[in-house]
Amino acid sequence: MPRKIIIDTDPGQDDAVAILLALGSPAELDVLGIVAVAGNVGLKQNAQNALKVVELSGVAGVKVYAGSERPMRRTLVTAEYVHGKSGLDGPDLPEPRQQLETQHGVDFIIDTLRREPEKTVTLCALGPLTNLGMAFVKAPDIVPRVQEIVLMGGGLFEGGNTTPAAEFNIYVDPEAADVVFHSGVPITQVPLDVSHFMLGNAERVERFRTLGNRTGVATAEMLEFFERFDEAKYGWDGGPLHDPCVIAYLLKPELFQGKHVNVTIETQSDLTRGMTVVDWWGVTGRVKNVNYLRSGNDTGFFDLLFERLATLA
Ligand code: RIB
Ligand code: CA
Repeated sequence: MPRKIIIDTDPGQDDAVAILLALGSPAELDVLGIVAVAGNVGLKQNAQNALKVVELSGVAGVKVYAGSERPMRRTLVTAEYVHGKSGLDGPDLPEPRQQLETQHGVDFIIDTLRREPEKTVTLCALGPLTNLGMAFVKAPDIVPRVQEIVLMGGGLFEGGNTTPAAEFNIYVDPEAADVVFHSGVPITQVPLDVSHFMLGNAERVERFRTLGNRTGVATAEMLEFFERFDEAKYGWDGGPLHDPCVIAYLLKPELFQGKHVNVTIETQSDLTRGMTVVDWWGVTGRVKNVNYLRSGNDTGFFDLLFERLATLA
Protein backbone atom coordinates (compact mmCIF):
# COMPACT_ATOMS: atom_id res chain seq x y z
CA MET A 1 0.00 0.00 0.00
CA PRO A 2 1.73 3.24 -1.07
CA ARG A 3 2.28 5.86 1.65
CA LYS A 4 0.00 8.88 1.22
CA ILE A 5 1.87 12.18 1.12
CA ILE A 6 1.25 15.87 0.50
CA ILE A 7 4.26 17.79 -0.83
CA ASP A 8 4.48 21.41 0.36
CA THR A 9 7.06 23.18 -1.76
CA ASP A 10 8.65 26.33 -3.21
CA PRO A 11 10.18 25.04 -6.48
CA GLY A 12 13.17 25.74 -6.58
CA GLN A 13 15.36 23.35 -8.58
CA ASP A 14 16.02 21.06 -5.62
CA ASP A 15 12.30 20.98 -4.80
CA ALA A 16 11.73 19.98 -8.43
CA VAL A 17 14.06 17.00 -8.12
CA ALA A 18 12.26 15.98 -4.91
CA ILE A 19 8.89 16.13 -6.70
CA LEU A 20 10.30 14.06 -9.58
CA LEU A 21 11.67 11.47 -7.14
CA ALA A 22 8.24 11.17 -5.51
CA LEU A 23 6.40 10.91 -8.84
CA GLY A 24 8.92 8.29 -9.97
CA SER A 25 8.08 6.11 -6.97
CA PRO A 26 4.36 5.26 -7.35
CA ALA A 27 4.72 1.84 -5.73
CA GLU A 28 5.82 3.44 -2.46
CA LEU A 29 4.30 6.95 -2.53
CA ASP A 30 0.79 8.20 -3.33
CA VAL A 31 1.09 11.96 -3.90
CA LEU A 32 -2.34 13.27 -2.84
CA GLY A 33 -1.42 16.79 -3.94
CA ILE A 34 1.32 19.38 -4.26
CA VAL A 35 0.93 22.72 -2.46
CA ALA A 36 3.04 25.73 -3.37
CA VAL A 37 4.27 28.19 -0.75
CA ALA A 38 6.07 31.54 -1.07
CA GLY A 39 9.78 31.05 -0.52
CA ASN A 40 12.48 30.68 -3.16
CA VAL A 41 10.46 33.04 -5.33
CA GLY A 42 6.90 34.41 -5.06
CA LEU A 43 3.92 32.11 -4.61
CA LYS A 44 2.49 32.52 -8.12
CA GLN A 45 5.79 31.61 -9.75
CA ASN A 46 6.41 28.72 -7.37
CA ALA A 47 2.96 27.34 -8.20
CA GLN A 48 3.61 27.66 -11.94
CA ASN A 49 6.96 25.93 -11.45
CA ALA A 50 5.26 23.06 -9.65
CA LEU A 51 2.87 22.64 -12.60
CA LYS A 52 5.84 22.66 -15.00
CA VAL A 53 7.62 19.94 -13.04
CA VAL A 54 4.53 17.72 -12.91
CA GLU A 55 4.18 18.16 -16.69
CA LEU A 56 7.88 17.38 -17.21
CA SER A 57 7.46 14.09 -15.31
CA GLY A 58 4.72 12.87 -17.66
CA VAL A 59 2.73 11.66 -14.64
CA ALA A 60 -0.99 12.47 -14.94
CA GLY A 61 -3.57 13.28 -12.30
CA VAL A 62 -1.38 15.15 -9.81
CA LYS A 63 -3.23 18.17 -8.44
CA VAL A 64 -1.33 21.38 -7.68
CA TYR A 65 -2.57 24.07 -5.28
CA ALA A 66 -1.40 27.56 -4.39
CA GLY A 67 -1.02 28.13 -0.64
CA SER A 68 0.25 31.08 1.37
CA GLU A 69 1.78 34.05 -0.43
CA ARG A 70 3.66 35.48 2.57
CA PRO A 71 4.96 34.32 5.96
CA MET A 72 2.65 34.34 9.00
CA ARG A 73 4.14 37.49 10.53
CA ARG A 74 7.17 38.67 8.59
CA THR A 75 7.65 40.13 5.13
CA LEU A 76 8.65 37.60 2.50
CA VAL A 77 12.34 37.04 1.79
CA THR A 78 13.06 35.24 -1.50
CA ALA A 79 16.14 33.62 -3.06
CA GLU A 80 16.34 34.57 -6.73
CA TYR A 81 20.09 34.93 -6.17
CA VAL A 82 20.23 31.15 -5.86
CA HIS A 83 17.36 29.87 -8.01
CA GLY A 84 17.20 32.58 -10.69
CA LYS A 85 14.40 35.01 -11.51
CA SER A 86 11.97 32.25 -12.48
CA GLY A 87 12.90 30.14 -9.46
CA LEU A 88 13.53 27.29 -11.89
CA ASP A 89 16.28 28.71 -14.12
CA GLY A 90 18.30 26.23 -16.14
CA PRO A 91 15.97 24.26 -18.42
CA ASP A 92 13.50 25.95 -20.77
CA LEU A 93 10.34 24.13 -19.63
CA PRO A 94 7.13 24.74 -21.59
CA GLU A 95 4.22 26.63 -20.03
CA PRO A 96 2.09 23.98 -18.26
CA ARG A 97 -1.20 22.94 -19.82
CA GLN A 98 -2.56 21.86 -16.43
CA GLN A 99 -4.31 24.53 -14.37
CA LEU A 100 -3.93 25.15 -10.66
CA GLU A 101 -6.76 23.88 -8.48
CA THR A 102 -9.03 26.67 -7.28
CA GLN A 103 -9.07 25.57 -3.63
CA HIS A 104 -6.52 27.33 -1.39
CA GLY A 105 -3.63 25.01 -0.57
CA VAL A 106 -4.05 25.42 3.19
CA ASP A 107 -7.70 24.33 2.89
CA PHE A 108 -6.62 21.37 0.75
CA ILE A 109 -4.26 20.27 3.54
CA ILE A 110 -7.03 20.64 6.14
CA ASP A 111 -9.71 18.89 4.08
CA THR A 112 -7.38 16.02 3.13
CA LEU A 113 -6.35 15.38 6.74
CA ARG A 114 -10.02 15.44 7.84
CA ARG A 115 -11.04 13.08 5.03
CA GLU A 116 -8.27 10.48 5.12
CA PRO A 117 -8.13 7.98 7.99
CA GLU A 118 -6.14 9.49 10.84
CA LYS A 119 -2.37 9.02 10.89
CA THR A 120 -2.26 7.90 7.26
CA VAL A 121 -1.05 11.12 5.62
CA THR A 122 2.56 12.38 5.77
CA LEU A 123 3.34 16.05 5.13
CA CYS A 124 6.59 16.56 3.17
CA ALA A 125 7.71 20.18 3.66
CA LEU A 126 10.35 21.43 1.23
CA GLY A 127 10.03 25.19 1.80
CA PRO A 128 9.04 27.67 4.49
CA LEU A 129 6.49 26.12 6.87
CA THR A 130 3.81 28.79 6.38
CA ASN A 131 1.14 26.47 4.93
CA LEU A 132 1.55 23.90 7.67
CA GLY A 133 1.56 26.57 10.38
CA MET A 134 -1.54 28.23 8.96
CA ALA A 135 -3.35 24.88 8.63
CA PHE A 136 -2.58 23.94 12.25
CA VAL A 137 -3.80 27.34 13.52
CA LYS A 138 -6.94 27.37 11.36
CA ALA A 139 -7.86 23.73 12.10
CA PRO A 140 -6.22 22.42 15.30
CA ASP A 141 -8.30 19.24 14.96
CA ILE A 142 -6.08 18.04 12.09
CA VAL A 143 -2.87 18.08 14.17
CA PRO A 144 -3.31 14.64 15.82
CA ARG A 145 -4.43 13.25 12.45
CA VAL A 146 -1.04 13.80 10.76
CA GLN A 147 1.04 10.61 10.44
CA GLU A 148 4.39 12.43 10.29
CA ILE A 149 6.03 15.61 9.02
CA VAL A 150 9.29 15.14 7.11
CA LEU A 151 10.85 18.52 6.45
CA MET A 152 13.98 20.01 4.98
CA GLY A 153 15.20 22.87 7.11
CA GLY A 154 17.47 24.11 9.85
CA GLY A 155 20.86 22.89 10.91
CA LEU A 156 23.34 22.77 13.76
CA PHE A 157 26.79 21.45 12.87
CA GLU A 158 26.79 23.13 9.43
CA GLY A 159 25.45 26.46 10.78
CA GLY A 160 23.04 28.49 8.65
CA ASN A 161 22.97 29.29 4.93
CA THR A 162 20.96 32.52 5.09
CA THR A 163 22.50 33.95 8.26
CA PRO A 164 25.29 32.38 10.32
CA ALA A 165 22.52 30.89 12.49
CA ALA A 166 19.59 30.17 10.20
CA GLU A 167 18.77 28.02 7.17
CA PHE A 168 16.48 29.61 4.53
CA ASN A 169 13.23 27.65 5.02
CA ILE A 170 13.15 28.32 8.76
CA TYR A 171 14.55 31.86 8.40
CA VAL A 172 11.70 32.93 6.08
CA ASP A 173 8.92 31.98 8.50
CA PRO A 174 10.19 31.27 12.04
CA GLU A 175 6.72 31.69 13.56
CA ALA A 176 5.24 29.00 11.31
CA ALA A 177 8.17 26.74 12.16
CA ASP A 178 7.54 27.40 15.85
CA VAL A 179 3.91 26.28 15.47
CA VAL A 180 5.01 23.12 13.64
CA PHE A 181 7.85 22.19 16.01
CA HIS A 182 5.57 22.70 19.04
CA SER A 183 2.62 20.84 17.46
CA GLY A 184 3.39 17.41 18.88
CA VAL A 185 3.25 15.86 15.39
CA PRO A 186 6.10 13.35 14.85
CA ILE A 187 8.77 15.27 12.90
CA THR A 188 11.77 14.04 10.97
CA GLN A 189 14.08 16.95 10.17
CA VAL A 190 16.52 16.91 7.26
CA PRO A 191 18.97 19.70 8.10
CA LEU A 192 21.93 21.21 6.27
CA ASP A 193 24.01 18.76 8.35
CA VAL A 194 22.72 16.09 5.93
CA SER A 195 22.05 17.97 2.69
CA HIS A 196 25.51 19.56 2.59
CA PHE A 197 26.91 16.09 1.92
CA MET A 198 24.56 15.29 -0.96
CA LEU A 199 26.61 17.07 -3.64
CA GLY A 200 25.62 17.01 -7.27
CA ASN A 201 29.14 16.91 -8.68
CA ALA A 202 29.92 17.05 -12.42
CA GLU A 203 29.90 13.26 -12.81
CA ARG A 204 26.46 13.00 -11.20
CA VAL A 205 25.09 15.87 -13.32
CA GLU A 206 26.28 13.96 -16.41
CA ARG A 207 24.58 10.80 -15.13
CA PHE A 208 21.31 12.74 -15.03
CA ARG A 209 21.89 14.22 -18.50
CA THR A 210 22.44 10.76 -20.00
CA LEU A 211 19.50 9.01 -18.30
CA GLY A 212 17.88 8.84 -21.74
CA ASN A 213 14.77 10.93 -21.07
CA ARG A 214 13.71 14.58 -20.99
CA THR A 215 13.50 14.45 -17.20
CA GLY A 216 17.20 13.60 -16.97
CA VAL A 217 18.24 16.37 -19.34
CA ALA A 218 16.10 18.97 -17.53
CA THR A 219 17.45 17.81 -14.15
CA ALA A 220 21.03 18.22 -15.35
CA GLU A 221 20.20 21.72 -16.58
CA MET A 222 18.49 22.60 -13.28
CA LEU A 223 21.43 21.37 -11.22
CA GLU A 224 24.01 23.14 -13.38
CA PHE A 225 22.23 26.43 -12.77
CA PHE A 226 21.19 25.93 -9.13
CA GLU A 227 24.57 24.58 -7.95
CA ARG A 228 26.73 27.42 -9.26
CA PHE A 229 25.91 29.65 -6.27
CA ASP A 230 26.82 27.11 -3.58
CA GLU A 231 29.87 25.84 -5.49
CA ALA A 232 31.22 29.41 -5.50
CA LYS A 233 30.20 30.01 -1.87
CA TYR A 234 31.55 26.79 -0.38
CA GLY A 235 34.19 25.81 -2.92
CA TRP A 236 32.77 22.27 -3.12
CA ASP A 237 32.70 19.92 -6.11
CA GLY A 238 28.97 20.27 -6.68
CA GLY A 239 26.10 21.91 -4.84
CA PRO A 240 23.99 20.38 -2.04
CA LEU A 241 20.75 18.72 -3.14
CA HIS A 242 18.59 19.61 -0.12
CA ASP A 243 14.92 18.77 -0.71
CA PRO A 244 15.15 15.34 -2.42
CA CYS A 245 16.55 14.03 0.90
CA VAL A 246 13.02 14.33 2.33
CA ILE A 247 11.58 11.97 -0.27
CA ALA A 248 14.64 9.69 -0.20
CA TYR A 249 14.14 9.32 3.56
CA LEU A 250 10.60 8.06 2.99
CA LEU A 251 11.78 5.64 0.31
CA LYS A 252 14.98 4.40 1.98
CA PRO A 253 15.28 5.57 5.60
CA GLU A 254 18.28 3.28 6.00
CA LEU A 255 20.27 5.79 3.94
CA PHE A 256 20.14 8.23 6.87
CA GLN A 257 21.16 8.27 10.52
CA GLY A 258 20.01 10.52 13.36
CA LYS A 259 18.43 10.56 16.80
CA HIS A 260 15.50 12.03 18.71
CA VAL A 261 16.33 15.37 20.29
CA ASN A 262 14.67 18.61 21.25
CA VAL A 263 14.59 21.29 18.56
CA THR A 264 13.29 24.76 19.40
CA ILE A 265 12.97 27.71 16.99
CA GLU A 266 14.40 31.16 17.69
CA THR A 267 11.71 33.76 16.89
CA GLN A 268 12.71 36.73 19.08
CA SER A 269 16.33 37.62 18.32
CA ASP A 270 17.23 39.65 15.23
CA LEU A 271 20.71 38.10 15.34
CA THR A 272 19.60 34.46 15.39
CA ARG A 273 16.02 34.58 14.07
CA GLY A 274 15.07 31.28 12.43
CA MET A 275 17.80 29.26 14.13
CA THR A 276 16.89 25.65 14.94
CA VAL A 277 18.28 25.33 18.45
CA VAL A 278 19.12 21.61 18.50
CA ASP A 279 19.68 20.08 21.96
CA TRP A 280 21.97 17.38 20.50
CA TRP A 281 23.44 16.37 23.86
CA GLY A 282 20.17 16.51 25.83
CA VAL A 283 21.35 19.20 28.24
CA THR A 284 17.94 20.86 28.64
CA GLY A 285 15.57 18.01 29.42
CA ARG A 286 13.11 19.53 26.92
CA VAL A 287 10.77 17.12 25.10
CA LYS A 288 12.47 15.22 22.28
CA ASN A 289 10.11 16.43 19.54
CA VAL A 290 12.27 15.71 16.47
CA ASN A 291 13.95 12.76 14.77
CA TYR A 292 16.98 14.84 13.74
CA LEU A 293 18.98 13.38 10.85
CA ARG A 294 22.72 13.91 11.24
CA SER A 295 24.21 12.03 8.25
CA GLY A 296 23.34 10.25 5.02
CA ASN A 297 24.80 7.95 2.35
CA ASP A 298 25.32 10.16 -0.72
CA THR A 299 26.09 7.30 -3.13
CA GLY A 300 22.91 5.47 -2.21
CA PHE A 301 20.97 8.75 -2.40
CA PHE A 302 22.07 9.53 -5.95
CA ASP A 303 21.66 5.92 -7.10
CA LEU A 304 18.03 6.13 -5.92
CA LEU A 305 17.56 9.39 -7.82
CA PHE A 306 19.05 7.99 -11.05
CA GLU A 307 16.92 4.84 -10.77
CA ARG A 308 13.62 6.62 -10.16
CA LEU A 309 14.02 9.62 -12.47
CA ALA A 310 14.90 7.22 -15.30
CA THR A 311 11.33 5.86 -15.09
CA LEU A 312 9.79 9.24 -15.93
CA ALA A 313 9.12 10.91 -19.30
O1 RIB B 1 18.09 26.05 2.53
C1 RIB B 1 17.70 25.14 1.53
C2 RIB B 1 16.22 25.21 1.31
O2 RIB B 1 15.87 26.54 0.90
C3 RIB B 1 15.75 24.29 0.17
O3 RIB B 1 14.44 23.87 0.45
C4 RIB B 1 15.77 25.20 -1.03
O4 RIB B 1 14.82 24.81 -2.02
C5 RIB B 1 15.33 26.50 -0.42
O5 RIB B 1 13.92 26.49 -0.34
CA1 CA C 1 12.66 24.27 -1.19
